[in-house]
Amino acid sequence: MPQRPLSVGTNADADWWRQAVVYQIYPRSFADADGDGIGDIRGVTSRLPYLADLGVDAVWLSPFYPSELADGGYDVADYRDVDPRLGTLDDFDEMVTEADRLGLRIMVDIVPNHSSDQHVWFQEALSAAPGSSARARYVFRDGRGRHGELPPTDWPSSFGGPAWTRVPDGQWYLHLYAPEQPDFNWDNPEVREDFHTTLRFWSDRGVAGFRVDVAHGLSKDLAEPLRDLGHALSYQPDALPDDGSHPLWDRDAVHDIYRGWRRVFDEYQPPRFAVAEAWVRSSRRAPYASADELGQAFNFDFLNTPLCAGAMRDTIDTALAHAREAGATSTWVLSNHDVVRHASRYALPAGVGKSGVEAWLMTGGREPAADLNLGLRKARAATLLMLALPGSAYVYQGEELGLPEVADLRTEDLQDPIWVRSGGRVKGRDGCRVPLPWTREGANHGFGSGGSWLPQPAGWGSYAADVQAGDKESVLELYRAALRLRRDLVTDEALEWAGTDADTERGLLHFTRGGGWHVLANLSDAPVALPEGTVLLSSGALSQDRLPAWTTVWTHA
Ligand code: NOJ
Repeated sequence: MPQRPLSVGTNADADWWRQAVVYQIYPRSFADADGDGIGDIRGVTSRLPYLADLGVDAVWLSPFYPSELADGGYDVADYRDVDPRLGTLDDFDEMVTEADRLGLRIMVDIVPNHSSDQHVWFQEALSAAPGSSARARYVFRDGRGRHGELPPTDWPSSFGGPAWTRVPDGQWYLHLYAPEQPDFNWDNPEVREDFHTTLRFWSDRGVAGFRVDVAHGLSKDLAEPLRDLGHALSYQPDALPDDGSHPLWDRDAVHDIYRGWRRVFDEYQPPRFAVAEAWVRSSRRAPYASADELGQAFNFDFLNTPLCAGAMRDTIDTALAHAREAGATSTWVLSNHDVVRHASRYALPAGVGKSGVEAWLMTGGREPAADLNLGLRKARAATLLMLALPGSAYVYQGEELGLPEVADLRTEDLQDPIWVRSGGRVKGRDGCRVPLPWTREGANHGFGSGGSWLPQPAGWGSYAADVQAGDKESVLELYRAALRLRRDLVTDEALEWAGTDADTERGLLHFTRGGGWHVLANLSDAPVALPEGTVLLSSGALSQDRLPAWTTVWTHA
């Protein structure tokens, strides 16, 4: 296929991503054009004008590939096709054409750590013999115990339970996620070559970039005997060794894979770009983001940091330093399809950490009591802070509507494998994946005419895009105004802190960007004086010359 033009004219710049705003679409929950209750590609195309109007630069689509949906599409059965329930390759091409017309770039999700168990290679592996070349594309091993009845190692799945499943002939295969997601063996040249083919397939169709799922997991120490983890079973970034010595995660050899990908990206003009989903220690993030590898890496420390000035300032400084080290820019993320929406996280009492947030989900959002008004106020302040930082902001669908987490989904409606694999101890991620409300009235609030694969809760219509459009006080108009202004305000990649240590202790974050752009976030319960200059935008109403509690303001000196 001849290489398609890629937003030429408006977006020919190879560095477009350095300070881009990327909007994440979870396709099954975005817009359903064919009325089967599941969002689809034509639904995305129909809403691209809304995204252009919102002011984002690019759209990243979570997986839309053929999948049995054992993990919401992150179990890919065919990397080079569209799931028939979501459309066709022609629909995809039309979407890219419409995006080009609107000056939007398209990014797609690549899931290289594991395929679906329905992938033709895994099906071949199941019917092939132990030791065959078909099995060598995945990680098959004999078990331990007298009859091989025990898993080969103590490695746990990230979704709960063991990371090994036994097949009828007695061997076991590795899956660091659900059993329906067998891990590839990246030591196998066929696997490497096939992913190059996939990257070219989508690049040829006009895709500008890729989000790389579980980027830190591909390379494993598969030398015999496989090593048990013993007590070090946690996969949390800070629990990983800082020297690349973990048998499964963040091994140095993974970087060789991405240097190969970079050679593929550089076959294109402009070169393709990628962002790594790498849950690693921040000090080990830079190589993933370097110019000879993927280009950028997600910085999840920002969403995991409490909304507290001192901690936020440290997180920002660290992220900027690591991005500089990589020659990249940092990313900033407050919400995505894997975490509780930030309007709800910030609604919980201060001091409730990640496990507290999960405990809150398990009570259906009842305990501890959430203050949704305060949560939204804080979310708006955090958003204006995020959108003023140098680097790329990744906005998750629905956060521009101020959507809260749907914490009270009934357990019989849950689809996330985490729910079942944890034996009902962890509710999972469905609460941030409920289909979007586009209209107050109408079937499924404008999502589509045929139901909604996760039920929309009562009151969902009050968040609808058509309710908020034109209302200056709404979250949607705040995002629109901020993204419009940001396009004019961003000049360089520098940030200068303006406040003193005492200010930070009082809960203030004050910095300037090139061209006289001032940003003051008041992350405290008390009003403070506004900075000098003209007010450009504020996350909440100002009272004369005071910046109220939990409000961020942008001014121009
Ligand atoms: C990270 C993705 O964001 C998540 O949704 C998925 O479950 C895992 N990777 C496994 O692919």
